Amino acid sequence: MASQSMTVSPPPAPAPTQFTTLGEVYETAPRMLSPEAWAYLDGGAGAEETLADNLRAFQRWRLRPRCLAGVVTPSTATQFLGMPLAAPILTAPIGSDILFHPDGQCATVRAAARRGIVPVVSEASHWPLETVAACADGPKVMQLHAWGGRDEFLALVERAERAGFSAICVTIDCPTLGWRERIMRRRFTPRDDAWTGNCVGPPGAAAAAAARLSGGRGSEWTWETLADARPAIGLPVMVKGVLTAEDAEAAVAAGVDAVVVSNHGGRQLDGVPATLDQLPEVLEAGRGRVAVALDGGIRRGTDVLKALALGADVVLVGRAAAMGLAAAGEPGVAAVLRLLVEELERSMLLAGRADLREIDRSLVRRSAD
Ligand SMILES: Cc1cc2nc3c(=O)[nH]c(=O)nc-3n(C[C@H](O)[C@H](O)[C@H](O)COP(=O)(O)O)c2cc1C
Repeated sequence: MASQSMTVSPPPAPAPTQFTTLGEVYETAPRMLSPEAWAYLDGGAGAEETLADNLRAFQRWRLRPRCLAGVVTPSTATQFLGMPLAAPILTAPIGSDILFHPDGQCATVRAAARRGIVPVVSEASHWPLETVAACADGPKVMQLHAWGGRDEFLALVERAERAGFSAICVTIDCPTLGWRERIMRRRFTPRDDAWTGNCVGPPGAAAAAAARLSGGRGSEWTWETLADARPAIGLPVMVKGVLTAEDAEAAVAAGVDAVVVSNHGGRQLDGVPATLDQLPEVLEAGRGRVAVALDGGIRRGTDVLKALALGADVVLVGRAAAMGLAAAGEPGVAAVLRLLVEELERSMLLAGRADLREIDRSLVRRSAD
């Protein structure tokens, strides 16, 4: 017999310091946002096949733990492009993130720095990169797009160098914005002040930079453009958006230091494979000549473990950190990073791996289905 006492109301959203699981953060985020902002955060391109596959790809791998390995305190510390990292995790560049919380990138940069995690700061920011850099000490990477003229691009690089960034990340999969139906249905585009903070200069130049960054126009960049600019960049360079052996080879030839196997979280060309599935192809082509990062679909510590086991040096987390920001600002991002690292540590201990060098291909097997 049904009775009123059996009706259970959903628990209230926990205070940010009380988030005990990543799931609580991910459930809180949409509740804090307008439907438009949530569609912008959560959505992908086209039929969202790639977005879904990024997540499914992690389910296709199972862990092969070793027991009685004598592990007591696993270490997640590592280095990437000369930067010390407390864990093999960077926050991915998220444009227009002031739509999720008024503290936007500053909150993410501060939360990451406190945890010894390196943030990759988006060019499409409410604040100029100098302001974001000043939010916290600690290494940071500046993300720029592969578009615009060489001089304009190098002027941004120079600003980033002067502001103290430790590396440059060039996003190469965004010659124009993806066909993002979830926001198109809502007739939504981020408001201008959410992403034009770096479009500075005299009125004409600032307007031209904003027109370029609005992303509706294609890009004349080729791998030669990057190779030509590379000697003028005094910092390590990573390129984000590599999915094929051909582009990995081209990146090496252009003199980059790291590639990010990325499909922009399924927000650009829908129908491309999951990043985890493309990782072996890129690793094989890079053959130790370039560091390899991966993003797309990382939602928990065991996802990080699987990506490392399949050969990634580090991972970037996009929506996971953005959902923390939406859920509770800086403490929300801090909670996500804390929980990702703690789950990674716990999983390493359970898998019998004392440090990151012990995480290799023997830790995973492809699932039967
Ligand atoms: C709301 C949002 C904004 C993004 N903005 C940028 C950006 O400005 N530059 C960029 O290179 N990538 C951008 N990305 C892509 C992320 O850097 C990253 O590649 C992607 O989120 C990884 O997938 P994940 O969200 O499943 O972790 C954005 C992603 C999201 C969700």
